[in-house]
Amino acid sequence: MANSNLGKAKAAKNDEFYTQYADIEKEMNAYLDFDADVFRDKVVLLPCDDPEWSNFTKYFAQNFDKLGLKKLISTSYAPDAKPKELNLQMSLFEQESPKFDKKKARTNGRVFTLERDRNGDKKINFDDIEWDYLKGDGDFRSDEVRALRDQADIIVTNPPFSLFREFLAWILESDKKFVIIGNQNAITYKDVFPLIKENKIWLGNGFTRNMAHFYTPYVPYSKWIEQEGENVVRVAGVQWFTNIDHGKRHQPLQLMTKADNKKFSKHKEVKGVGYQKYDNYDAIEVPFTDAIPSDHKGVMGVPISFLSKYNPEQFEIIGMCENQDLYGLKTKKYASTECKAAYTAKFGKPGTYDLNASGVVTIGGIQEKVYQRILIRHRKVAK
Ligand SMILES: C[S@@+](CC[C@H](N)C(=O)[O-])C[C@H]1O[C@@H](n2cnc3c(N)ncnc32)[C@H](O)[C@@H]1O
Repeated sequence: MANSNLGKAKAAKNDEFYTQYADIEKEMNAYLDFDADVFRDKVVLLPCDDPEWSNFTKYFAQNFDKLGLKKLISTSYAPDAKPKELNLQMSLFEQESPKFDKKKARTNGRVFTLERDRNGDKKINFDDIEWDYLKGDGDFRSDEVRALRDQADIIVTNPPFSLFREFLAWILESDKKFVIIGNQNAITYKDVFPLIKENKIWLGNGFTRNMAHFYTPYVPYSKWIEQEGENVVRVAGVQWFTNIDHGKRHQPLQLMTKADNKKFSKHKEVKGVGYQKYDNYDAIEVPFTDAIPSDHKGVMGVPISFLSKYNPEQFEIIGMCENQDLYGLKTKKYASTECKAAYTAKFGKPGTYDLNASGVVTIGGIQEKVYQRILIRHRKVAK
């Protein structure tokens, strides 16, 4: 297999993570707690799903009446379009249906819809779902799935991770409400971060400690993935991305002053040390979200995990430390000779230390590039 094909195969494996019911329920409850009518009279679309056994379809179908939905639509991707080794079997539901078509069952996507009480039991739930084959393979970029998107009010799914960027762009071009799962790294994407900065999209309520458990047929193959049981893996750095409001983003972080952090912080990097100023940004380095000082007037560099605690009434996002100075915040750009000298000083051998990639602090005469940082400011500084 050529290298680029290997890369694609690895990416496709990343796409086969299936979400647990409890995680979907917990996340949707956060939106419902904030606005009990958030789904009322809405058309909800679940693309990139496998409706017969997806927990997204199960959750919305079982709660159809409680949520007051107008219509639920979910679509799946054709088995032949998925990695071959998945060896997907057709479900009995499909095989026993009068609509069953042996060829289409492999090559076509499917669409499931729920909007009326078909069996007359005075409830609308999973048993009332209707289905059909799509004309194509169910790719979210196809005209037919795009048309379903345009009918929807809210889009909810765990999209293929390898196509996250494209999937988000696909939602945004339609100007819909959405709740989707993605890797935490997506925060720093050039086409995602500006939307977070402008409070057009934000992180959802979230997984506990940003760790998600997914069902997957694959054994772990990356340091971010750990086996947790048969066909269940734990993946680090997973977030919900959304543009629907929830309570957590209005809870202020409880913070100490600079002086108190220096005296009482639980972090050795802060306790007795305080805060350092970057050499290349007019900002201080705050290595932990809970060490943000309540009384700092200027800009502060914080880890990207800060965003899961971000309250837009408490903080303003100014930009991010990154190479291209997209937010015009750098006070210094390092020449390549400086990057080379910094490498030799730090590691004692020739090389290049890309100081322009993030904030830089000088410790004991050695320049240190800090981890990826978001630059923020208090809206109202504590006295
Ligand atoms: C991360 S999984 C999540 C599945 C389901 N939403 C869940 O959370 O249980 C993403 C799904 O999208 C499918 N997929 C991959 N590429 C796709 C595409 N271009 N269009 C639609 N679906 C795709 C994958 O085969 C996989 O089933």
